[in-house]
Amino acid sequence: MTALGKLLRTTAFRLTLVYLAVFVVFAASLLGYFALNTRRLITEQITRTVTAETTRLREQYNEAGIRGLVLFIDLRSRRPGSSLYLVTTPTGEGLAGNVSALAPGALDHPGWIETSYRRIEQPDDVEHRALVQVVELPGGFRLLVGRDLEERERIYGIIANAGRWSFALVVVLGLAGGFFVSRRVLKRIDAMTETAHTIMAGDLSGRLPVAGTGDELDRLADNVNAMLERIEALMHGLKEVSDNIAHDLKTPLTRLRNRCEQALRGAKGDADYRAALESTIAESDELIRTFDALLMIARAESGQARDNMTDFDAAEIARDVGDLYEPLADEKGLMLKVEAPAAAPLRGNRELVSQALANLVDNAIKYAGLEINKINGAPAEIVVKAGVDGERITLTVADHGPGIAESDRGRVIERFVRLEQSRSQPGSGLGLSLAAAVARLHGGELKLEDNHPGLKSVIALPRAGPAGA
Ligand SMILES: Nc1ncnc2c1ncn2[C@@H]1O[C@H](COP(=O)(O)OP(=O)(O)OP(=O)(O)O)[C@@H](O)[C@H]1O
Ligand SMILES: [Mg+2]
Repeated sequence: MTALGKLLRTTAFRLTLVYLAVFVVFAASLLGYFALNTRRLITEQITRTVTAETTRLREQYNEAGIRGLVLFIDLRSRRPGSSLYLVTTPTGEGLAGNVSALAPGALDHPGWIETSYRRIEQPDDVEHRALVQVVELPGGFRLLVGRDLEERERIYGIIANAGRWSFALVVVLGLAGGFFVSRRVLKRIDAMTETAHTIMAGDLSGRLPVAGTGDELDRLADNVNAMLERIEALMHGLKEVSDNIAHDLKTPLTRLRNRCEQALRGAKGDADYRAALESTIAESDELIRTFDALLMIARAESGQARDNMTDFDAAEIARDVGDLYEPLADEKGLMLKVEAPAAAPLRGNRELVSQALANLVDNAIKYAGLEINKINGAPAEIVVKAGVDGERITLTVADHGPGIAESDRGRVIERFVRLEQSRSQPGSGLGLSLAAAVARLHGGELKLEDNHPGLKSVIALPRAGPAGA
């Protein structure tokens, strides 16, 4: 398609044409109405004055006879102006007046006619138009009284001219405006289309251009860009997950396989096989847990879990998780304390929030338990809190363990990241990733802070749930 063809097919240009047509019809009707009414008014005025004059001349005839009328008309004919007079004999010879020629047959029938005529004192051969009244006087004489129509036609002409000019102006300006607007719109659409093509070709980092005018195209571009942002993040997450699976699940699977092979080759009896099978089951359980954790993170990150938002009390969750982990804490010689005195109403995915808090408590028990006896003799405390902080609900887990160095706090949230110091403990490095993903899903955040000593992990969530959910 040619550039002009493209331009003419834009919605902007078509809209311009429609508006143009509407405007032209409107202007034409207005001017037409105005012109016709002006003409009618002038005609009416002429008719009124001519009728009055005819009546006056007829009276003159009645009073002073044909001689008196001829004298009277002679007098009037000499006055300048657009008035026309003519008196003729019954056979049509002119007796007095200022008309030298009339259209043939103009005097034949009494009444009103529009006719062409020539004036006596204007021997210019120019024919003028006039509106005249012809009356037959007693005795067969004919009297013609009329007015030149030049003025009426001039006014009519002025209006018609104004109409033609404004029509031309409107069409030219309208088309030029239409072209201008359409070209601007088209340019922006072309830029968007180009970007869309590069994105379709696989470059997800492309973004639609935003002109900054805040118009509908900008709003559209903004929304599409936000969508692309989200798609890119999801694609990135997906790629990360598959990379992670490839790297981090391959090792335990290989280990599992090698152990089975060893047992097949070197087992001496039932007891050896049994031991090999048991360790295989344990390793498989670990793998299944890792898979579950990965799937849960994926579910939280895709936003799909937003469908299951309900209203619940975060304080209740803190108490439940506390009850669940108390035996484990006891076993490690730790004191697990829950501080959730008041209700902390929250809108969100109950299952995921519980799991996130459980992960934090699990970490506290796992890693603070290592240090316990090194700090002092008394059992160290782990405090789980649920509270309201303005528009946010906070779930806090504080321990007195080794804590996480400030420089490591950013990366421990990533999948499969485990710090060197904690390699002796079981785990796959997904607990904090899930807690962070759940916080993000709810429009909140996971913060890791120093507990002097130890770690304070805080999940802060907006109480009303994620915006727009
Ligand atoms: N309370 C804590 N005290 C000290 N270090 C911690 C604490 N919580 C987490 N960490 C460090 O952060 C790392 C990541 O924690 P995360 O919960 O994501 O994984 P994990 O506990 O190792 O494994 P998983 O939770 O999947 O069983 C841990 O390996 C540990 O090094
Ligand atoms: Mg953990």
